[in-house]
Amino acid sequence: MLTVKVDLSSNSYDILIGNKVLPELGAAVKALGLGTDAVIITNPVVKNHHGRAVTASLKQAGLTSTALEVPDGEASKSFASACELIEKIAAYDVGKDLFVVALGGGVIGDLAGFVAAIYKRGVPYIQIPTTLLAQVDSSIGGKVAIDLPVGKNLVGAFYQPRMVFSDMATLTTLDRRQIINGLAEVVKYAVICDKKFFEFLEKNVAKLLELEPKVFTEVIATCSRFKARIVASDERETKGVRTILNFGHTTGHAIEAANQFRDYQHGEAVALGMRVAVEISQQLGLIQPDGVERINRLLSQLGLPERIEHVTVAEIMTHMRHDKKFKGKKNKFVLTTGMGGVKVVEGVDPTVIEAAVAKLV
Ligand SMILES: NC(=O)c1ccc[n+]([C@@H]2O[C@H](COP(=O)([O-])OP(=O)(O)OC[C@H]3O[C@@H](n4cnc5c(N)ncnc54)[C@H](O)[C@@H]3O)[C@@H](O)[C@H]2O)c1
Ligand SMILES: [Zn+2]
Repeated sequence: MLTVKVDLSSNSYDILIGNKVLPELGAAVKALGLGTDAVIITNPVVKNHHGRAVTASLKQAGLTSTALEVPDGEASKSFASACELIEKIAAYDVGKDLFVVALGGGVIGDLAGFVAAIYKRGVPYIQIPTTLLAQVDSSIGGKVAIDLPVGKNLVGAFYQPRMVFSDMATLTTLDRRQIINGLAEVVKYAVICDKKFFEFLEKNVAKLLELEPKVFTEVIATCSRFKARIVASDERETKGVRTILNFGHTTGHAIEAANQFRDYQHGEAVALGMRVAVEISQQLGLIQPDGVERINRLLSQLGLPERIEHVTVAEIMTHMRHDKKFKGKKNKFVLTTGMGGVKVVEGVDPTVIEAAVAKLV
């Protein structure tokens, strides 16, 4: 197994990454001494595929476990689900020494982490991310949240897990669209963090799409290292370092919201947002045309969308103006100077943004 450390002084933890490593989970958890009784928060889909392996591994290490399920889907990131889980945990928590296990994708990770953060003012939790997006992004960094009807992730906390356990083999039960969805975030890291990694992705497109274990484990480890490094230098998003993780997300979020989260997976919208950001970067003279072409080509080769459908330019622009990350009336864009180069620019001329969006619609 590979280990990536998230260095946050007293909140530090390890990300363990491997292929077919779930049998080693119990021993790794036990070594941390988090407690003796695991409350596994999951959904029926993930439980069906991977629940037994997790339970067996914990049992093997002498730990008890109980599984609490919420329905599949973003709607479970709600106060109602959180309350229901907390009531169940409280009823179960008699004579127990418990910790929480988030077993699932980003929805489960955000929800279970939120529950762990507020139950008894915080109990330990670990993340077992089972989507590519969760393994390379949402499970790392301690942002936990639920949604409100007026917007996503509006109630939450920074609450770090005690371990992230990424078994690449859990991804083999995901459908192809979910893999491609996660690959958008992988491309994001390559563009903002590392030219060599971008070249590695270009060379391994076929292996990525067929989930070749060696290449895929390498990709998860590399992205985990990037995220760990960024989080370690800006744990609570107060220093502006974490901002670069929003590459492609300003327009991506606007597309998702304008479309009422109907037709796009998050990664698909982010891929379109990255295309827009790259176009703006070119208009501002930050990136050379061959860089633009390579980023767009890689996104296409990975099966990510090339055109914005289902929403109009005007709708996207309206939602972008409402972005909560914009300070006052000033917009803020994460742009690229080429693979591995990133620049945060404030106050981009709206006509340049609109033209870049219009080019894809
Ligand atoms: N906390 C953060 O830093 C952060 C970062 C990015 C995204 N997020 C959040 O993550 C969420 C999206 O996460 P996601 O893309 O993983 O979606 P998700 O959790 O809804 O999972 C996608 C689908 O895959 C299924 N699934 C999960 N693992 C599976 C497996 N191994 N085999 C088969 N099916 C499986 C799920 O049941 C679901 O239907 C959003 O709520 C978003 O806000 C959080
Ligand atoms: Zn994202």
